[in-house]
Amino acid sequence: MINHDTIDNIISTARIEEVIGDFVTLRRRGVNQIGLCPFHNEKTPSFTVSPAKGIYKCFGCGKAGNSVNFIMEHEHFSYPEALKYLARKYNIEVEEEEQTPEQILELNEKESLYNLNLFAQKFFTLTLSETEEGKAIGLSYFRERGIREEVIHKFQLGFSPDKWDAFSEFAIQQGYKKDFLLKTGLSLEKDNRLYDRFHSRVIFPIHSASGRVIGFGGRILGSDKNRPKYVNSPESDIYNKSKTLYGIYFAKNAIISKDNCLLVEGYTDVISMHQAGIENVVASSGTSLTQDQVRMIQRYTSNISILYDGDPAGIKASFRGIDMIVEQGMNVKIVLFPDGEDPDSFARQHHPSEVGSFIDENAVNFILFKTRLLLGETQNDPIKKAALIKEIVNTIALIPDGISRSLYVRECSSLMTIPEQVLMNELNKILRGKLKKNLPGLEKELEQIPSDQITAEPQIDFDPDSAEYQEKDVIRLLLLYGQDVIRIKLISSEEEDVPVNVADYVVHDITHDEMGFENVIFKSIFSEYVKGVENDAIPDRNWFLSHSNHAVSTMAVNLVFSPYELSENWLKNNIMVTSEETRLHMHVMLALHAFKARKLDKMISETRKKLSSATIREEQDALMKTFHELKKQSIRINKEGLGRIITH
Ligand code: CTP
Ligand code: MN
Repeated sequence: MINHDTIDNIISTARIEEVIGDFVTLRRRGVNQIGLCPFHNEKTPSFTVSPAKGIYKCFGCGKAGNSVNFIMEHEHFSYPEALKYLARKYNIEVEEEEQTPEQILELNEKESLYNLNLFAQKFFTLTLSETEEGKAIGLSYFRERGIREEVIHKFQLGFSPDKWDAFSEFAIQQGYKKDFLLKTGLSLEKDNRLYDRFHSRVIFPIHSASGRVIGFGGRILGSDKNRPKYVNSPESDIYNKSKTLYGIYFAKNAIISKDNCLLVEGYTDVISMHQAGIENVVASSGTSLTQDQVRMIQRYTSNISILYDGDPAGIKASFRGIDMIVEQGMNVKIVLFPDGEDPDSFARQHHPSEVGSFIDENAVNFILFKTRLLLGETQNDPIKKAALIKEIVNTIALIPDGISRSLYVRECSSLMTIPEQVLMNELNKILRGKLKKNLPGLEKELEQIPSDQITAEPQIDFDPDSAEYQEKDVIRLLLLYGQDVIRIKLISSEEEDVPVNVADYVVHDITHDEMGFENVIFKSIFSEYVKGVENDAIPDRNWFLSHSNHAVSTMAVNLVFSPYELSENWLKNNIMVTSEETRLHMHVMLALHAFKARKLDKMISETRKKLSSATIREEQDALMKTFHELKKQSIRINKEGLGRIITH
């Protein structure tokens, strides 16, 4: 709990160009500085830092924020971690608020577990590299497998001696408590004696995303059928298996820069891939991915390639698990290795450059992979084929993004030689069922929607900086909340709050500033609202959902059913919004503000362009005047920020 004054102090002291300058080479351009974006791959710089405003923004990938956000994003730190990092950089003393005794105890306990693990890791590592036994048995095992010294060092591999309690005894001797030895699982207790869980095994420390040792895996040397090949640390306060990915700490930067995460099965696969120069790789440790693990990857990329050893039966068994990954909005690819080869053995037998190109050339999109594999089994049996359609469409229906869904429908229909419409109908049936479940109370409205309109996502640009994105936002607000009431202040009535309809407010605000919509469908929806407001009969959502104009109803359906993203942004900006009505009010203000600011920017840049090519004096003068007018308006709108006061 860092106290507020300290936080303010840190934020006002940190110079964004210095903070970012530690990681990115920046060049001055005008009042800003630019460089190559650290969050995505680019050759020409679109990453812009504004020292005056204390913010950064990448015009390539859209990442933006202040110093704290940058450190959080770049170093994958939590909020307090980022603050502490900046405090260290600027020699600011961090004052923490007092913690309750329980909090201190809990923190101390976790710290003790981390400490013990660190101690154990050092013990195992030193045993491997410095003792006769370690060198003769452990090190020669790794060498035999072709693992190089520097990789052993990087992954902090180790060895646990053959003696039953070598580690436990040493740890106790060094003052580590039995309680923690048992809680980390490094020791086991029997007849009041401690034994080493990992004795006589080579050790793979497991690191958290921030690089702390949270657990271990230990492998037997050779292949004794009577002992399990691996033993692993049990779950503890610091090790949660389902939230951990082996190798994530060593992979995260490469995952970001490659914008892809390779998933393999085991410890040795990760290590061999690194040795072949491929670093964007993590292991699930022999099980299928959990939701938490997918989310962890999603913090760095939305692309995942799963590497399999060539056994179709094994892959089929994991289809359901992969469906879950698709459902989270990830693009999943499958890479199948030649029969009997896993990434580890393949990497050892091929030149490093071949490993990378093999993966690139053999990565197949999961849905197409699944279609092909199952299609091979139907052998033109119509019943089997019908089942296949259901199976494939079920997976496609999981994809959150409508545009991707339509693309897969197209590709799969040609793969299976089935008309697109057949798949589309099947897909709509499933989607409609889902919507019903997710939107109780809207069943009636749903019934009225022609089925082919549910999936047809409006063809608009999803770039948040494009004008259409802002237009879409305003229209969606109208559709969702047009008839709801917010309270605003009127200039004429001092303190009094007056209730108005959202539609009323939005229409007045936009027409007052003489602005309009570019997208023809939005334009037509908006004009109906204008008419409605004039006649005191604001159309309801239903009207648009079952609109006689096909394009309008399709758009309305998609806008109403796509999730609203704004609320999350508020949280990010630390704006605490409590009541439903205040939330809605904020929504409206933010959407209108963004809409107008964006419009003006566009008009200004168009005028600037015209101005630079205008040759006639009168034309130049007129354009100059427009330019200044727009500028003035833009400054006013930005100054007003979120709180426009309307004068009725
Ligand atoms: N695993 C485990 N316990 C086992 C077997 C496997 O925890 N008894 C986990 C380990 O994380 C292992 C992964 O599943 O890394 C994959 O298993 P496997 O392919 O058998 O192991 P490899 O890592 O390939 O080890 P090796 O190449 O040394 O056989
Ligand atoms: Mn293996």
